[in-house]
Amino acid sequence: MTQFLQSLKWENENLLILDQTMLPHKIVYRKYFHYKQVVMAIQKLIVRGAPAIGVAASYGMVLAVKSFLKEGLSGEVLKKALKEAAACFINARPTAVNLSWSVNQMLELCLVIPEKQMYKKTLEYAVHMQQQDQSICKKIAMHGAGLFVNKKNLHILTHCNTGALATSGVGTALGIITELFNRDQLNCVYIDETRPILQGSRLTASELIAANIPCKLICDNMAALVMKSKEIDAIIVGADRIAKNGDTANKIGTYALAIAASYHRIPFYVAAPFSTFDFNISSGDYIIIEERSDDEIKKIGTEWIAPAEISTFNPAFDITPYHLITAIITESGVIYHPNIETVTTYENALIKK
Ligand code: MRU
Repeated sequence: MTQFLQSLKWENENLLILDQTMLPHKIVYRKYFHYKQVVMAIQKLIVRGAPAIGVAASYGMVLAVKSFLKEGLSGEVLKKALKEAAACFINARPTAVNLSWSVNQMLELCLVIPEKQMYKKTLEYAVHMQQQDQSICKKIAMHGAGLFVNKKNLHILTHCNTGALATSGVGTALGIITELFNRDQLNCVYIDETRPILQGSRLTASELIAANIPCKLICDNMAALVMKSKEIDAIIVGADRIAKNGDTANKIGTYALAIAASYHRIPFYVAAPFSTFDFNISSGDYIIIEERSDDEIKKIGTEWIAPAEISTFNPAFDITPYHLITAIITESGVIYHPNIETVTTYENALIKK
């Protein structure tokens, strides 16, 4: 599959971000030349998906370096400004750990290299992170597809958007699904529309249609029925943060899917890169769940679909407990039955590499 639309590009010393809030109606790349604009773009979901916001923030740090040097900042003042910029990115969306993972690497680099080389070196590193994400997606796709060897005619259900728009490559869960299609093993992908802001219907549906992958769109509340009546072979989703015991934060609605999958004895897979693991927290209890504005529930686009005065509860993510997850598919292989032991074994193997 040729990559759908690129979520972001570095061009002529500026960052271009595809405005995902305008999809599928309009394809608009917005130009960013100051880091604070990139922070806003992340908060407003102009760029979204854990790996993509990590890469966007890396380029955002390059823009911070560029403007601080232009303003003549140096020494301790420069370091302080860079630390503040990093904190703005990390706080932009609290649940996805990929943000702090990438921003902290950029900051560490800034703190050890001479100011004269800072712009060049940080830009090189941001490009490296984008390319690395691309190759990680490919590896996840291979490992994931490997779970379905000798199986044909597969029916897969997915949630939210985990494709090219959410990453720098073919995607995580959607990368696996695409690989199964390329291997001629796929019959149909059922896409949850993913309320409230419809990443499934606006983004995943567009990506699958563009790739000619057979798919059907369903409302989120149809998923249990589809599991029962459509012989779903597996559910594959992405992740925003995975705790040391395997508890996984992902788009709101994932937890309900995992419960329904367990009831129907359907394998439930999470696909995620190393950068989505947070080995510093022992369980999902420590994951901060981002709460977003009530407009996302009360409106679709600019159309009101509820009384203006109703109050709402709008958590953007939920936590799926490890025991409901059949396996976590990473770029280094598959963690079967994720729990504190199996995830720690994975962490130790990575440290040794
Ligand atoms: O709020 P979003 O659209 O950024 O949420 C995205 C998800 O929950 C994805 O499943 C996750 O980030 C993985 S993307 C490869």
